[in-house]
Amino acid sequence: MISAEGLRRVFAARGGEDVIAVDDISLSVPRGETVAILGPNGAGKSTLIRMLTTLLPPSAGSARVAGCDVAGEASRVRSAIGYVGQGNSAGHAQRAKDEVISQARIYGSSRDQASRRAEELFSTFDLQGLEQRRTREMSGGQRRRLDLAMGLVHNPSLLFLDEPTTGLDPQNRTNLWEHIRQIREDTGMTVVLTTHYESPRVC
Ligand SMILES: Nc1ncnc2c1ncn2[C@@H]1O[C@H](COP(=O)(O)OP(=O)(O)O)[C@@H](O)[C@H]1O
Ligand SMILES: [Mg+2]
Repeated sequence: MISAEGLRRVFAARGGEDVIAVDDISLSVPRGETVAILGPNGAGKSTLIRMLTTLLPPSAGSARVAGCDVAGEASRVRSAIGYVGQGNSAGHAQRAKDEVISQARIYGSSRDQASRRAEELFSTFDLQGLEQRRTREMSGGQRRRLDLAMGLVHNPSLLFLDEPTTGLDPQNRTNLWEHIRQIREDTGMTVVLTTHYESPRVC
């Protein structure tokens, strides 16, 4: 599902030394696997994920994701994958269900299809009753579950999660791992996640 060779990313620093964020990373992830990329803050996890999701061009190396080249076939990679970034992806003033509907519309669903998909995802992620809640009024755990719902709106075959449980209390962390485990079991989706916690409970 993923094969990367010699990925490297250097950030040019103004007036200082260049930052080598990712240095010569090669990896291979078979379909259906769940892989956790572990490392302390600053290790280069987000940079690696951003290269694999086409958000950032590599300085060197190459990667194929879901059968397509991240540099030459970026839009095909994007339609095959889901990505939940490190920050919350929902807009602050939007209502929760509208966020998911807008996301589904971006991927080409009709208004009816988008609404049905949103209802399905609200059920999967225990978000029923929160459809009209503004995202800034949701708890940390609810927002992370909404982020996951948004990342899965187009039924991707590969899901990238950057620090999905960071900032959550232990109970919400366990709950989120349980949701991720369940999705993986139900869909057979390949999951690549990063965490600076030692042992994600999903693997
Ligand atoms: N846009 C950027 N410009 C300059 N340096 C960056 C940029 N993004 C990340 N870095 C640096 O790259 C290194 C790796 O960062 P990051 O990939 O965010 O690590 P992690 O996700 O493992 O915490 C850090 O030293 C960080 O400061
Ligand atoms: Mg990070």
